[in-house]
Amino acid sequence: MSLDYSKAQKVIHWLMAIIIILDLNVAQKFGGNMELWDRLESRADHATAGMVVTFLFILRVILRYLYGAPKLPSSMPSWQVFSAKFGHYTLYLLMAGLIITGITMAGFASDPIVVFGVDMAFFSHNQNNFHLIRSLHEFFTNAIILLIVVHICAAIYHHFLAKDDTTSNMLKFWKTKNNL
Ligand code: HEM
Repeated sequence: MSLDYSKAQKVIHWLMAIIIILDLNVAQKFGGNMELWDRLESRADHATAGMVVTFLFILRVILRYLYGAPKLPSSMPSWQVFSAKFGHYTLYLLMAGLIITGITMAGFASDPIVVFGVDMAFFSHNQNNFHLIRSLHEFFTNAIILLIVVHICAAIYHHFLAKDDTTSNMLKFWKTKNNL
């Protein structure tokens, strides 16, 4: 196990965090009534940011496979080690779930959703499938928001109470302890 994440892993972590938060901000409008032109334009913006997240997610999984993750502080009790691992894997699963449901839902949309010149509405339009997948997409969104809040609380705990390097290592994205 390494001492730290690589610089690329840290940069991807922060880029994904920023884009997902901005994308959630665009997507929170979808629950309410919207003018059709606004909905279609916002769908394209949301799906474009979602596809950038998809690319970063694939890169992140590859780097995690190649470089692994740093060792957790030896002072951490076993229940915290278990929770940290469980939380991180669940975050990966929820991101994958959001991406898969997002792309499939876009596939069944009634109008084109053009992302980098490609129309994502590639299946024939099906309102039932669209709404069914949309409720799963919404469920994954709520679950990931909850986990992001827990993740931020854990980062604050490591920094201010446990006073270990976990959070400060991730904050210093321009530096790594393992020369990668
Ligand atoms: C990156 C993570 C993503 C997050 C956090 C996210 C979040 C959301 C949220 C909160 C909604 C509104 C749900 C509702 O109120 O019913 C939504 C709707 C939607 N998302 Fe995503 N999404 C993500 C990725 C994607 C991707 C990759 C695509 C497709 C390429 C996509 C396509 C859509 C579509 C088509 C809608 C429905 C818009 C509408 O109701 O008019 N999403 N998403």
